[in-house]
Amino acid sequence: MLDVRDTVKSVDLESVMLSYPLASGAELRALEPWRAAEFFAFIVRAREHLAPWIPWATSITDVDGARRWLKHCAEEQARDEGRIYGIWLDGELVGGVVFQAFRARAGVCEVGAWLAPEAEGRGLVTAGVRRMVEWAFEERGMARVEWRTEPANLRSIAVARRLGMTREGLLRQVFRFHDGRRDLEMWSLLDSEYRTPSVGGVAV
Ligand SMILES: CC(C)(COP(=O)(O)OP(=O)(O)OC[C@H]1O[C@@H](n2cnc3c(N)ncnc32)[C@H](O)[C@@H]1OP(=O)(O)O)[C@@H](O)C(=O)NCCC(=O)NCCS
Repeated sequence: MLDVRDTVKSVDLESVMLSYPLASGAELRALEPWRAAEFFAFIVRAREHLAPWIPWATSITDVDGARRWLKHCAEEQARDEGRIYGIWLDGELVGGVVFQAFRARAGVCEVGAWLAPEAEGRGLVTAGVRRMVEWAFEERGMARVEWRTEPANLRSIAVARRLGMTREGLLRQVFRFHDGRRDLEMWSLLDSEYRTPSVGGVAV
């Protein structure tokens, strides 16, 4: 008879306990402060690609800065106000997804994401955000998941569309960036749309 202890021994314990499969060779794991060096190495590799859209891609300039950022995210998670996860592809950190706002009492949260250029085009962020959306609605009873993006960020808009989100409008000058303020489009998915995709919600 199969002994469950043998099964557990034969697989990597971290994979069992702390990761979520996204696709072949790709997984989502908590991105915690102890991974600061790995996160900083990722930023250095992907900086040029991320810098036009993501402020921390420029403002984090060393491992200590990466650790401070991940500690800030961990503190937000401890307050139930945010969460950050990395995306690993064939063992290498290639991106991430985040609840950059999580207001449990209000039932509203905002998701964001990023990828290294070599990891684009495989559906990894769509799968990762879909898992975040599922968790927000199913386990946390949220009413609304938001996605904010610049009008020029066509790949980001495509993610929102793929998730069945609706464009609600433009938030003028809402985003403070290094070089000034920027407009952001507001996209969202409601719990009712998630549960009834034909109403315009997520295509699963
Ligand atoms: C925004 C960003 C995360 C989107 O990355 P992406 O790779 O286009 O998105 P996904 O990982 O969901 O992949 C979708 C692509 O994979 C393809 N794909 C392959 N298999 C797929 C699958 N099973 N499911 C969905 N899409 C799949 C899709 O066709 C699409 O490719 P296409 O755009 O060439 O048609 C990325 O461009 C990025 O990091 N940009 C810089 C940072 C940034 O702008 N972040 C967002 C700020 S709001």
